[in-house]
Amino acid sequence: MRNFENKFIVAVFAANLIAVVVFGGRYYLTGNIETPHKEQQQLVEVEIEDSNQTIAIAAPVEEDLSDYVADPEKGRKISGKCKACHDFSQGGKHKTGPSLWGVYGQKIAHHTDYSYSSAFEAEKEKGEIFWDDTHLNEYLLKPKKYIKGTKMAFPGIRDAKDRLDLIAWMKEQK
Ligand code: HEC
Repeated sequence: MRNFENKFIVAVFAANLIAVVVFGGRYYLTGNIETPHKEQQQLVEVEIEDSNQTIAIAAPVEEDLSDYVADPEKGRKISGKCKACHDFSQGGKHKTGPSLWGVYGQKIAHHTDYSYSSAFEAEKEKGEIFWDDTHLNEYLLKPKKYIKGTKMAFPGIRDAKDRLDLIAWMKEQK
């Protein structure tokens, strides 16, 4: 059994988990949770190619992502969209946006030597956002909708599979 002891799963149970289906070594979690946007979401755990890690996100119910296997190599290519503003390499400097080396799992606005927007600073104060799968997935869908007032001038990535590939790759950049 994989270890499900993480905050995400706790949230699932807290929100009345309706079904856990296990087959073929793959786990699906299906339930309804309240998201910040109050839309109906399904909870999906997606495998990552050639990795024993997974990505767990809340996704819109109309998209069936349960069979998708995220591909970090595709994610690396998608990260090209970010590189005008972000350096992903170890020791990389801040550009228009902060260095993203090791950002996965960090609290929002963790760099002390980068000047974040006041919207980001306010979120940091609240302390609710850290860059796990779910937050990255929502932020990268529509940055300006997720964090109103962010200075990240990027429209977002519409395709959920592209976001999953990118998150799979970002998890490795640490
Ligand atoms: C046009 C420039 C630009 C592009 C393109 C861009 N970003 Fe950003 N990004 C920023 C800026 C600026 C911030 C700081 C936001 C703030 O302070 O409001 C930021 C913040 C972030 C953060 C939060 C970092 C932290 O320290 O909390 C993440 C994660 C992130 N971007 C990921 C991405 C990814 C992934 C892409 C590509 C899909 C991308 N960004 C594309 C400018 C950009």
